[in-house]
Amino acid sequence: MKNVLVIGGAGYIGGLTTDFLMKQGYNVTVFDNLMYESQFLKPCDFIYGDIRDTKRLVELQKKYDEIIWLAAIVGDSACAQSPELTREINLNSIKRFLDATHRKIIFASTCSVYGAQHDVLNEESPTNPLSLYASTKLEAEKYVLENSGTIFRLGTVYGVGDRFSRIRLDLVVNVLTLKALTENKLTVFGGDQWRPVIAVRDVANFFVEAVSRDYNDVFILKYKNITIIELANIMKTIFPDVKIEVTERKFQDLRSYRVDSSKAESNFIFKPRTTIESEVIKLMTLFEEHRIKDVNDDIYYNTKYIKALLNDGALTGRNDS
Ligand SMILES: NC(=O)c1ccc[n+]([C@@H]2O[C@H](COP(=O)([O-])OP(=O)(O)OC[C@H]3O[C@@H](n4cnc5c(N)ncnc54)[C@H](O)[C@@H]3O)[C@@H](O)[C@H]2O)c1
Repeated sequence: MKNVLVIGGAGYIGGLTTDFLMKQGYNVTVFDNLMYESQFLKPCDFIYGDIRDTKRLVELQKKYDEIIWLAAIVGDSACAQSPELTREINLNSIKRFLDATHRKIIFASTCSVYGAQHDVLNEESPTNPLSLYASTKLEAEKYVLENSGTIFRLGTVYGVGDRFSRIRLDLVVNVLTLKALTENKLTVFGGDQWRPVIAVRDVANFFVEAVSRDYNDVFILKYKNITIIELANIMKTIFPDVKIEVTERKFQDLRSYRVDSSKAESNFIFKPRTTIESEVIKLMTLFEEHRIKDVNDDIYYNTKYIKALLNDGALTGRNDS
């Protein structure tokens, strides 16, 4: 079986991707700097390292048949905390790596590259990145395609991986579930903004299938396009006592876009199928069983956590060995 290196494999998407790859019999190695975790306990090889360490990564990659590249500073506001660090991690590291290796990788990009647009967008549609996160991802895509690779532009991810994988509580479906359960009230800003969404397990399945494919192309991944108010109404069906309050739209987050994912659906065998409702129930169980000791802990929120790391002077500098 192929040797697969999952860079950023200790993250939210990486956790389940690693599990599914192992289940399929691949020899998996995770490379990660454990930005959010204090340990890595999955039963696969693990290399503690930083993608900014290009020399080391260039040497290491020789042992692997396939590379999945997930490591990044993820999210608009997390990236805004340090533009310099974001450029270094989300763009320069990958450019240096590809310039040195010219190898094919499977790369996680984002539908945020579309920004705010009215039409239903596909891979050929104009992009309109509104944040540093989106623009660094878009620029990184160019280097990936120049060297050959599969790029997934992901909608906003929701749900639970497995019980040993990182969870994020800063993504819209997960946030609304936690708020509905703990506060009995959802405040929706505007509510008419469109978001493509997809479950973490469906995303992981696409990454696994990509390992056995040989595309040099971009694919949009989503389960459905949904407005924030529709999401809040789904919460109401699961938490009937919840009150929904619609307030004026926050001007900080202007994103609103719908996407067409038919290209992925016709090129991949796997079809996204995990409903929002089923993952909300899994999240609810996780919270109700107190499997997360403190849901307010910064580690579940990329922006808060990165802010704290930066204040502590961690994450600075490039550490080429
Ligand atoms: N979750 C989403 O909704 C979503 C949507 C669109 C795109 N994506 C993309 O998917 C990928 C994974 O996202 P996620 O939600 O799993 O994020 P995450 O923050 O949970 O995981 C990122 C992982 O990368 C690692 N990492 C970060 N910087 C590193 C460095 N310098 N060296 C080594 N490892 C480093 C972190 O330790 C973490 O394990 C990202 O590239 C992201 O842009 C995610």
